[in-house]
Amino acid sequence: MQKTTAQLLENPELLQFESEKALKRLSQSLKTAAKDSWPELKTRLEQQLPALLELYLSLYGEHYDCYYHLEQLLKLLAKSSAQRPAYLRLEDAEPQDWHKAPSALGAACYVDLFAKDFKGLAKRIPYLKQSGINYLHLMPLFKAPEPNSDGGYAVSDYRSTMPQLGSMQQLSDLMQQLHQQGIKPVLDFVFNHTSDEHRWAEKAKAGDAEYREFYFFLTEQERDQFAPSLREIFPEIRRGCFTQDKTSGLWVWTTFNSFQWDLNYANPAVFNAMAEEMLFLANQGASVLRLDALAFVWKQAGTSCENLPKAHSLIKAFNAVARIAAPALQFKSEAIVHPDEVVKYIAPEECQLSYNPLLMALLWDSLATRNTRLLTESLRKRFDIDPQCSWVNYIRCHDDIGWTFDDSIAWQLGINPDHHRQFLNQFYTGQFEGSFAAGVPFQQNPVTGDCRVAGMLSSLVGVEKAEIENNALHLEHALQRICLLNSIILSIGGLPLLYMGDELGLKNDYSYVLDPAKKDDSRWVNRVAVTDKQLASAISADTLSGRIYQQLQHLIQTRAKLPLLGAGSTTLLSDENPQLFLYQRQLDGKRLVAVVNFSEHAQLCNSLTGQLWHDELSNKTLPADALLLTPYQALWLSPVNS
Ligand code: GLC
Ligand code: GLC
Repeated sequence: MQKTTAQLLENPELLQFESEKALKRLSQSLKTAAKDSWPELKTRLEQQLPALLELYLSLYGEHYDCYYHLEQLLKLLAKSSAQRPAYLRLEDAEPQDWHKAPSALGAACYVDLFAKDFKGLAKRIPYLKQSGINYLHLMPLFKAPEPNSDGGYAVSDYRSTMPQLGSMQQLSDLMQQLHQQGIKPVLDFVFNHTSDEHRWAEKAKAGDAEYREFYFFLTEQERDQFAPSLREIFPEIRRGCFTQDKTSGLWVWTTFNSFQWDLNYANPAVFNAMAEEMLFLANQGASVLRLDALAFVWKQAGTSCENLPKAHSLIKAFNAVARIAAPALQFKSEAIVHPDEVVKYIAPEECQLSYNPLLMALLWDSLATRNTRLLTESLRKRFDIDPQCSWVNYIRCHDDIGWTFDDSIAWQLGINPDHHRQFLNQFYTGQFEGSFAAGVPFQQNPVTGDCRVAGMLSSLVGVEKAEIENNALHLEHALQRICLLNSIILSIGGLPLLYMGDELGLKNDYSYVLDPAKKDDSRWVNRVAVTDKQLASAISADTLSGRIYQQLQHLIQTRAKLPLLGAGSTTLLSDENPQLFLYQRQLDGKRLVAVVNFSEHAQLCNSLTGQLWHDELSNKTLPADALLLTPYQALWLSPVNS
């Protein structure tokens, strides 16, 4: 008897049966399309199709033409599997646990700012290798509207690059070269929206009904069913989340800028079209795709349209597609949302990697307050993830710092979360008395008073102010803060991610205000160019850049020798001294305790006495009776067996 979608979704055996049936029916045409990749593809389809079918049906089972779209999808998987280059097919057969190595180290850069173009980037591979970097996120580099494309996050064509960087072929060659040098290339998958100049958008603008269904073209009444419950992301630039299309008068959904059109994933044709673009990028050599703005990809009237259950099904469906046609590909979640929601994207069958915005925000919090309670208590609740997955721990990225911690934990600690966020904004924009920071406000919301902060690492920790004030002690503290932050992202568990330029302590670049296309987006203050001269200063110990770089190198090299700092588990510890931050790493019966002093004064740690410790960072054995930390000191302590 024929079964309905609902019956299939309830019964794994039926799903298995229907998958086998679909495979049998399609095997001849899939085999032809897959060419010599058919044997591998067939095995993977047998394993993964039931999962993909379940997800596809849960998303599109109500559509009368669902099976047609599924068939199209399978054909495109076969086609793209045939196009997968031989070197990537070899990687497909390997285990994907590289992010668990104690030497795993990531970096992110804009190709133009870091190296001018793809050719220039190839020339900087020796610098990357010298720095220990083996994962490189090349910030958006696709064809995009000029002059403003939200830093490339408005993509007009996923298969063409910005002409000034070089061609797609050059990018593809560069990515192969990076693989050969042991560096995993990472690209953005900007899949929540396209630019309004993408060919799909152009067709939709011209009135093509099929392509209008790729986006949201809403009447005023339809728009108003959604609008009241949505968050405004860029309130300084534009109010609301919709933009009126000039010709039709209809309202297009634009969560971010008015030129970034949200895709309508309720339409299976959109899923298939984007799956094809995704596999294209994977086949050019991307080892990881950064899933941009993934919290926003599913909309439902009456909700915030963020983090909806179907957003998860959708990402899992993309993941199933990758497991079948490009198994080496990993996903990195960019969910800058409430910590309870961030962790929901992390799973082997969804995103294997995820930015850790909670750690990022609360490291800054602890530096401002010299108190680590909120950091410790928040991470205690939200650090554990599936052991096959990894956090991507970062101090800064190309975006702003938003204060996305869990309010209920703040309340438990007697902190009023709203007041505290105001304080942090004041502190990091240098308006709070005694603040060491020189950050810039980003997107002040006139209605809610909400605000975020932009700035380079060095400016935010106090280098910029100390230099202006010519204050040697403050400069010393600022350098110690950099070392402290780096020591944590390198040892707390996960893949550390550097933001190129920060490793040399480069400061804010205020010249963006002179560029009309950039002046309204203060995140450009922390997107700085890196010159040859600056790179050369990395190895000279008598420059500030050199000192910062070499401190960092010492941390990186020490970490690489300690396997438990890669794959080990993490437990948050506490000490009665609130200025100290403590955590333990454990692997195969070995352990290491990190103790970090978040204040500019010496601090005693009482909770670890009675044991002899060896500090891996200073290579010294410490007395068992009293652990005294110097200002901003980080210790990586291995127990000494007596
Ligand atoms: C992500 C990017 C950010 C961009 C936004 C819209 O949050 O990191 O730079 O503005 O997505 O694509
Ligand atoms: C929103 C998004 C976040 C992005 C930011 C850009 O907050 O949630 O992903 O980083 O906008 O400013």
